[in-house]
Amino acid sequence: MVLDYSKWDKLESSDDDVPPQRPPTKVEKAPAKSPAPKRKLQPWDYHPAKSLHKDLFEPDNWQQWIHPSLLDVISAWQKQKETGNSSDFSCVDLENFDGFRVEAPGICSFPALKDEFCDMLLEEVRNYRASGLPSRAPNSMNNYGLVLNEIGLRASFTSVLKEVLLPIGARLFGSDEDRVESVAGINVETEDWGGSTLDDHHSFIVQYRPTDDKHLDMHIDECDVTFNFGITSHDNFEGNDLTFCGMFDSASHRKLHHRYKHIRGRCVVHSGKRRHGAMDIEKGERASLIMWTKSRSFRRTEAYRERNRRGLTYGDADNVCLSYTHDPDYKKLMPKKFQYHMKQEAHDASQKSLATEKRWIRVCSAKELLEGESKMVALESENEQIAVFRHRGELFALDNRCAHMGGSLCEGEIEDVGTHGLGASDSKATDGMVICPRHFMCFNLRTGENVEGDSMSQKVYPVRLSADGTNVEVEVDMEVTVQAVPDLSARLPRLLQMLRCWSLNGRQVPKLAAAGLGCLVVFVAAALRFRSTFRDARTIQR
Ligand code: FES
Repeated sequence: MVLDYSKWDKLESSDDDVPPQRPPTKVEKAPAKSPAPKRKLQPWDYHPAKSLHKDLFEPDNWQQWIHPSLLDVISAWQKQKETGNSSDFSCVDLENFDGFRVEAPGICSFPALKDEFCDMLLEEVRNYRASGLPSRAPNSMNNYGLVLNEIGLRASFTSVLKEVLLPIGARLFGSDEDRVESVAGINVETEDWGGSTLDDHHSFIVQYRPTDDKHLDMHIDECDVTFNFGITSHDNFEGNDLTFCGMFDSASHRKLHHRYKHIRGRCVVHSGKRRHGAMDIEKGERASLIMWTKSRSFRRTEAYRERNRRGLTYGDADNVCLSYTHDPDYKKLMPKKFQYHMKQEAHDASQKSLATEKRWIRVCSAKELLEGESKMVALESENEQIAVFRHRGELFALDNRCAHMGGSLCEGEIEDVGTHGLGASDSKATDGMVICPRHFMCFNLRTGENVEGDSMSQKVYPVRLSADGTNVEVEVDMEVTVQAVPDLSARLPRLLQMLRCWSLNGRQVPKLAAAGLGCLVVFVAAALRFRSTFRDARTIQR
């Protein structure tokens, strides 16, 4: 698949997270017998009726939430701003920013939020969940989280952006006049991503835990500058490091660049167009506050258009930088055992072709798989999931993980290909197709082809009823351990070594012979003495 990264830039304005208009209040009374249906509650019904920390929703309170070191470094700019000059950022002195770090070229971190703010924010998110109000996924890749802009916090985070993050963004990702080249002697190596004029944001919480969003696949963000704040204390989770790779348009796009462990209250900032992802979380739960920021005026410049024109570069890849969502060569390059996981160990693993053997595996009983339904079998050791389907009385089996972003096909609807007038090269109208429940790609059950003609397709497995007709079975290539046949030629060097040892020991023969002779002399002398003593004793008895 040719990846269309333009989709990632669809935030031409952030209106997509502005709640739809509420329906106008009806003036005329509804007839008594048919009352108007009750309006379904929405996320923006949360505040003030159900919110917990009302202070969080008050935009003027931003100073209470910000770490003293950060307040200190922006204080001169704040004073200057009061006089009407907010566009000169030279007074923001990153050299004297206590706790500021250049993590790696293009990536910096700094103390940003107070612990109390992090706690309040997490409590607010939990309270929102308990309210039963609906929430949508914070972005196209995280399912478990909350869009803060939608629950009434947009104005508060706009204050944080305009009063606090803008001067930092300007110094790191602003125009040539505003950007610093180095901090504490370390080159920052950033580019202009509109940091001097950041004016819009999409702010959300993402949460990871082993049972929900376990990791975040490699990707770039739908923004210009990403501010990512650790909210959870270190003690609450294990694993889940942020892993950074190259910029989208560089030859090192898929090469490992830096690993970062989140710290509560600390912000890591980078260009949205740097490839990054979060490794598997091993234990506990981690939350991050993410502010995707952008500059509307920068996006209208030729410099921005030129940058986007440079386009995506694939180049060589380190395993940890591979994306199962975006890289068409993912399955070819990522060792099977690590596919669809995000593990540090994958970095050094190589794609070995191991010996395999075809085996029939039971999926379910034939009675369980009803017409128009599906079942799935997960083979942990093979890191493989296979979905079987029954359509028009026939059995079919496909790789369960959708080639697009790993959606679970066994949860998808099944229909005839002909129902939609679709069909790639080899499709028949009566072929079944499964519709991925995540983003609705459709795959032909018989061929695995994407019926809309996209090059992403699903692996197809042989499937049958067992000999007695009671079970559904699929044929899988299982990895096998080959028993090594003793190789005598390989052992020859060892044998020669042993012989050499023996011959070396032969040099000790004279010493050994002398010692043996000494023992013999002692033994003979003792025997002669014993003999004379015994003879004497026998003589006395007589
Ligand atoms: S995961 Fe996106 S269509 Fe399947």
